[in-house]
Amino acid sequence: MTRHLLITGGCGFIGSNFVRFIRQTRPDWRLTNVDVLTYSGNLENLEDLTESDDRYRFVKGDICDRAVLHPLITEADAVVHLAAESHVDRSILDSRPFVQTNVLGTQTLLDALRRAQANDGRPRRFVYVSTDEVYGSLPLDDPDNKFTEQTPLDPRSPYAASKAAGDQMTLAYFHTFGMDVAVTRCSNNLGPYQFPEKVIPLFVTNLMDGEKVPLYGDGKNVRDWIHVDDHCEALLAVLERGQAGEVYNVGGNNERSNIELTLAILELMGCGKEMITYVKDRPGHDRRYAIDASKIEADLGWKPTRSAWPEALRETVDWYRANRTWWERVKSGAYRDYYKQQYGARIGAACACED
Ligand SMILES: NC(=O)c1ccc[n+]([C@@H]2O[C@H](COP(=O)([O-])OP(=O)(O)OC[C@H]3O[C@@H](n4cnc5c(N)ncnc54)[C@H](O)[C@@H]3O)[C@@H](O)[C@H]2O)c1
Repeated sequence: MTRHLLITGGCGFIGSNFVRFIRQTRPDWRLTNVDVLTYSGNLENLEDLTESDDRYRFVKGDICDRAVLHPLITEADAVVHLAAESHVDRSILDSRPFVQTNVLGTQTLLDALRRAQANDGRPRRFVYVSTDEVYGSLPLDDPDNKFTEQTPLDPRSPYAASKAAGDQMTLAYFHTFGMDVAVTRCSNNLGPYQFPEKVIPLFVTNLMDGEKVPLYGDGKNVRDWIHVDDHCEALLAVLERGQAGEVYNVGGNNERSNIELTLAILELMGCGKEMITYVKDRPGHDRRYAIDASKIEADLGWKPTRSAWPEALRETVDWYRANRTWWERVKSGAYRDYYKQQYGARIGAACACED
């Protein structure tokens, strides 16, 4: 039974929403959030918790660092692993940090879990947060074709390839060492605290500043969108009720082309089509992702409840409109100083990795 949960990457978009979600739904659990604070890790995402909550602890540390992980894993009952390099465009510019964190970091975590279990005989559940991008690309002209957990992996970007390697390494530790692991493969998340390099916060914040929105290629690429709270609910379901060695697809039943998404954002922001700038397509841009989530629905009783369109989009757009200070500090880089100013002196043992 989980009493002390270790969350990796809890200062990122999904991680910070997951920390808050667990705090609300499992208030008696202790939470440790280990995050190295790359450019996308932002302590301000959890400002409300870090000030007041003695069952929540932040540790600034790298998941590739065994010395950091060992004490954290020894005391934990379970791990939800979200830490990653997460942006496809950055992986095209330089794939090395993706291999480092998404592959080696995952392997380091798995080995640390294995060692802890060998030391005290206590298995700890490990949930690897993978992505639908590991399945590759679906054609646009076959709408009934969706990814199931049996779809062969066919990652096509360096990001997706590194996530697929971590995903397969996790399952290998189940088959080889009998470890208590499960994998989730989720579609595109939307919601608060997403780094404004990703499409929804980028477009909304550009429009708020009177700037145009850059749309890749012909805009026909299709993604399935899910509200981050629905994803968090799925992660908790897998943590508590998932079967060891299993993979669970997670999706919002919400396929939208990029042009549809863009037009919906423009409408919500009161802007016209003239605010679109078409830009050269991303190399190897996957055409369509679509998720069949019937396994997690049937086996674990999970269903998306917050992802209905256009309400989920409107709510998300409204959050960025209401939180200009948050995203302005991200876009200006001011958020990078926050931990030094507010927390530097109080961050404990694992604070070896300075910026
Ligand atoms: N955003 C999505 O739509 C989506 C969809 C499916 C799966 N995922 C997966 O969910 C996870 C979280 O995604 P996100 O969008 O919140 O990403 P994000 O980039 O917002 O957050 C990643 C976090 O990981 C931290 N991190 C990076 N390298 C680290 C390291 N070496 N050690 C410790 N911490 C490190 C960063 O500081 C940051 O806080 C990722 O594993 C991603 O692949 C994301």
